[in-house]
Amino acid sequence: MAHRNTILNVLAIAGTTIAQSSNLPTVPPGVFEVSSRIQIKSTLPAAWHALTNMPAYPQWNPFVRSSLVVSSSNLTLPNQYPTEGNYLLMRVQIPPLPLPVDENTPDNPLATQLAYEKITAVQKRKGRLAWKYATDTLIQGERWQAISHVGEGMILYESREVFDGLGAPALRETLGPSLQKSFDAQGEGLKLLLEGNSHSP
Ligand SMILES: *[C@@H]1O[C@H](CO)[C@@H](O)[C@H](O)[C@H]1NC(C)=O
Repeated sequence: MAHRNTILNVLAIAGTTIAQSSNLPTVPPGVFEVSSRIQIKSTLPAAWHALTNMPAYPQWNPFVRSSLVVSSSNLTLPNQYPTEGNYLLMRVQIPPLPLPVDENTPDNPLATQLAYEKITAVQKRKGRLAWKYATDTLIQGERWQAISHVGEGMILYESREVFDGLGAPALRETLGPSLQKSFDAQGEGLKLLLEGNSHSP
């Protein structure tokens, strides 16, 4: 009996470890959070390139339809690789567009929103990216994305945003479920992009 309990405990601990394995940083809790994770048959360099190649977002991303890297004075930067301290002017879809999308997929006007975000982390070695709301004073949110190796040609893509502030409860009520769909859809779109060419005819 003691033996069986020990085995069950070991299994429980192993299960917990697997479930909690994450490359996202620990951040303070807020009013609510939206998060998503998906395993993709790809490499870390390929995934990093896809996530930082902003001009190519319209070709695959059903959530962020465009993301322009601008300076603090809103000048479009010639180098569109995201760098900490610069800003992003984004056009997003909440809820997301149905997959697949390409650069010609029209927006759903009812789901279109603009966002202005400050780039807070570009950590290639750690496989982490983050940006946070730069305009809305009633809502704070920092969106983290992370990639990590999970073995045998597989990577894990994760994203999470903790929302806080006076406006966060209303945001949860109005857009919470749609935001969740958008986070999930970006993961699925990334998977389609990175695995799309790997199947044989
Ligand atoms: C840059 O654009 C954003 C979004 O339109 C705006 O909120 C912000 O005030 C602008 N910043 C400057 C310095 O003009």
